[in-house]
Amino acid sequence: MNHRSWMRSQGFTSEVFDGRPVIGIATTWSELAPCNVHLHRVAESVKRGVWQAGGFPLEFPAMALGETLLRPTAMLYRNLLAMEAEELIRANPLDGVVLLSGCDKTTPGLLMAAASVGLPAIMVTGGPKLNGKYQGADVGSGTAVWRWEEDLLAGRMTQEECAFAEGCMSRSDGHCMTMGTASTMASMAEALGMQLPYSASWPAVDSRRYETAQRAGQVIIDLVEHDVTPAQIMTRAAFENAIRVNAAIGGSTNAVIHLLAIAGRLGVPLELGDFDTLIRDVPTLVNLQPSGKYLMEDFCYAGGLPAVMRELGGLLHGDALTVTRRCVAENVRDAPCWNRDVIMPLGQPFQPAGTGTAVLRGNLAPDGAVIKQSASSAHLLKHRGRAVVFDSPEAYYAVAADEDLDVDEDTVLVIRYCGPKGYPGMPETANVPLPAKLLKRGVRDLVRICDGRMSGTAYGTVVLHVAPEAAAGGPLALVRTGDWITLDVPARALSLDVPDDELAARRAAWTPPPPPASRGWTWLYTQHVQQADTGCDLDFLTGASGHQVGRDSH
Ligand code: FES
Repeated sequence: MNHRSWMRSQGFTSEVFDGRPVIGIATTWSELAPCNVHLHRVAESVKRGVWQAGGFPLEFPAMALGETLLRPTAMLYRNLLAMEAEELIRANPLDGVVLLSGCDKTTPGLLMAAASVGLPAIMVTGGPKLNGKYQGADVGSGTAVWRWEEDLLAGRMTQEECAFAEGCMSRSDGHCMTMGTASTMASMAEALGMQLPYSASWPAVDSRRYETAQRAGQVIIDLVEHDVTPAQIMTRAAFENAIRVNAAIGGSTNAVIHLLAIAGRLGVPLELGDFDTLIRDVPTLVNLQPSGKYLMEDFCYAGGLPAVMRELGGLLHGDALTVTRRCVAENVRDAPCWNRDVIMPLGQPFQPAGTGTAVLRGNLAPDGAVIKQSASSAHLLKHRGRAVVFDSPEAYYAVAADEDLDVDEDTVLVIRYCGPKGYPGMPETANVPLPAKLLKRGVRDLVRICDGRMSGTAYGTVVLHVAPEAAAGGPLALVRTGDWITLDVPARALSLDVPDDELAARRAAWTPPPPPASRGWTWLYTQHVQQADTGCDLDFLTGASGHQVGRDSH
């Protein structure tokens, strides 16, 4: 009676308590997360589907992480969203859950939560914005910002032009419409089998986004009735599929961290090295910004992810189960491609096999670092240069416009103390813009090395996710301006050309930075966060606990 009577205050009729499946709809809606602001409307469509299939839908909020507003970085809070959503899903009397996400961290955060609870679950991402349009040309979220920022520094664009362009870039609901992290993670959710085919690419304002949401409401009832859990879908085979799909779509390096973290919740063995070895025979098929030309709206009209997965054919595990309760091969068997300039055939790819994410190791990154080859300059993939070192991105920004900054086109910019513990939260600071004096000379790229991340919408020859990070005592902390650094991507090597005895002396003199917080979430996070090579989850959150907690006191 307690359960029913209090719920009746919302005006539900008594028959909804007849034992039908109760479906939670976890929504990361917030006006502070503009990419997710339409999710309350998506939730209404999900509810239609749940009612239609005989379930009882109940929407609840989960922490909304807006990439552009949260400071110091939304990544600091991905694990907090995962922890909050996990507990809400487990503690409430739910039979299944629909996960509504959009902006970068909301998709992995909710998948991590669902993985740790183990109730049947399906994801519906919010979809990308319509293409940006500025001065007659398409402009991509994020990617255009990096270019305009450089144009502004180099004097090629005025402040007034920038202000006008901002509105032209973001002209509808939805997440970033480049193949940035949000589009990548939506694609990863679909490639893993956790959202319906085509879910990743319908634009946020397309009626088919809402049709798909309604269908997801029906499908979750089917998953509950057949007790299909995330662990049955997100298997090692599913992660291998996702990693290969990420290479084919030219996806974000952030997928590396998020997929490792989700796998860690499920106990699926996945290592950083898998992201290199599994993609060596996978070409990039999709011609999307930041690596290519088009945007997500074009990707949708060209056939979306099913067309890519069909093209990959035998490179994927076709027998992997998905939320349709059919396997990948069945889902994509007849998927058409309508534009071969956007989704290219396997035999004539956009970029050849082996040009995706590379995992580097060496005395500068003993536990690994990554580089997105397709976003890099070919002439810098093998490079030896003199380091110019900054202990924060802010320290670099303070001098980036100085005409007498001691840099040239061979310089290796080192930006450190940007890792999970260091900043804290591992922000997207690695792709700092080039020094103004080099931009004015026409230099468009430099090797940059950082223990932070790079936006999925960004480009450049940037070595990321260096592990261990500087704040954890990684060798990156020992680099000094004037040292020589060798980057050899074909050999997967990153080395600091300084003798071991000199490095040992520098280590003896090194003192760790003070912790960034003495209480609250940031303290808990920095005490327990793991390094980038294992996904930056908190050490006590890896694994799963199931959907029962303690004793049921009611
Ligand atoms: Fe939200 Fe890019 S800022 S998806």
